[in-house]
Amino acid sequence: MRIVLVGFGVVGQSFAKLLLSRSADLYSQHGVKPRIVACVDNKGSAISPAGLDLERLLMAKKKGTVGMYEKGAAKFDPLHIIENVDAEVVIEATPTDLTTGEPGTSHIISAMRTGKHVISVNKGPLALAFPSLIELANYNGVMLRFSGTVGGGTPILEFAKRCLKGDRIVSFQGILNGTTNYILSKMEEGLTYESALADAKEKGYAEAVPSLDTDGYDAAAKLVIMANWVMGMKVTMKDVARTGISGVKVSDVKSAQSRGNAIKLIAACDSRILEVRPTEVSKKDPICVNGTLNAVTFSSEHSGQQTIIGRGAGGMETASAVLRDLIEIRDTVFER
Ligand SMILES: NC(=O)c1ccc[n+]([C@@H]2O[C@H](COP(=O)([O-])OP(=O)(O)OC[C@H]3O[C@@H](n4cnc5c(N)ncnc54)[C@H](OP(=O)(O)O)[C@@H]3O)[C@@H](O)[C@H]2O)c1
Repeated sequence: MRIVLVGFGVVGQSFAKLLLSRSADLYSQHGVKPRIVACVDNKGSAISPAGLDLERLLMAKKKGTVGMYEKGAAKFDPLHIIENVDAEVVIEATPTDLTTGEPGTSHIISAMRTGKHVISVNKGPLALAFPSLIELANYNGVMLRFSGTVGGGTPILEFAKRCLKGDRIVSFQGILNGTTNYILSKMEEGLTYESALADAKEKGYAEAVPSLDTDGYDAAAKLVIMANWVMGMKVTMKDVARTGISGVKVSDVKSAQSRGNAIKLIAACDSRILEVRPTEVSKKDPICVNGTLNAVTFSSEHSGQQTIIGRGAGGMETASAVLRDLIEIRDTVFER
């Protein structure tokens, strides 16, 4: 499968490393032979119809940009490459922008309009325009997949969609943002909100703009993706009632603790509710995980409640979700 990789940061580079380490077993076990035929970052691009040498590509990036792959190579803009390079799949791995959705939205639309399947790890386009992007994918007869947008490498979306197939999920709730969960866990240990946030920043858990996490935007974006994909709703960011954690005080956390509970930033969805807000949760509830973990409980009509827990982010974890999507696309296209 020929791939155009747009964005070569933490996730993009992890994906290249994953392909390097897994190429033999990917072919023997799944019949997939991925070839990255073009790669773009914010400063340059590299193209090879036969497939880029990934070690050389990673070396080029160490010098600043994938544009260093070839001496004197022209810098094409991503849209030109997406539209004109022959490929089956475009991977969108540029930064998430929850206000405009760009540049990811334009990349995804161009890819689908030129008949390419899309794997996005970028939440922005999906959080702002999920229903119309799925419509466009269907119209163009291509697949749009986004496992890495929710739960990093933890297969939260696949669990709901595949393992609970045949049953009807009536609601779900969960911790979808590892950074805020880390901050709240540290507050339980006695840190103030400000020192817990500073600690999260120091450990590299917080986004460059911390309010994306602390004001609940990131959790709301993931909630929107899940509500559309798992519950068949047609909602976007503006439909979410959102409260972040900056108003949570140590005294609130301590008082919850005295009742055997913890305060967690819970994203919840059912036929009436679509919200993100700090919520008191029993410590005996499996959803009550600590640190940067994510956890989601699905309630289904017949099979009851199931909780899935795992790490919610990380370059390699998210790259492994991209690989799952790639295998799914290949299997589906092959079966057609
Ligand atoms: N990191 C994680 O654990 C994780 C987990 C789940 C989802 N995600 C999502 O995955 C996406 C990528 O995350 P990341 O951590 O890899 O981010 P990152 O390290 O900041 O990498 C972003 C990449 O996109 C490139 N880029 C920026 N603007 C571009 C443009 N207009 N055209 C082409 N390339 C452009 C950047 O180029 P330069 O290198 O030249 O700056 C960089 O290579 C984000 O949307 C993020 O929210 C990340």
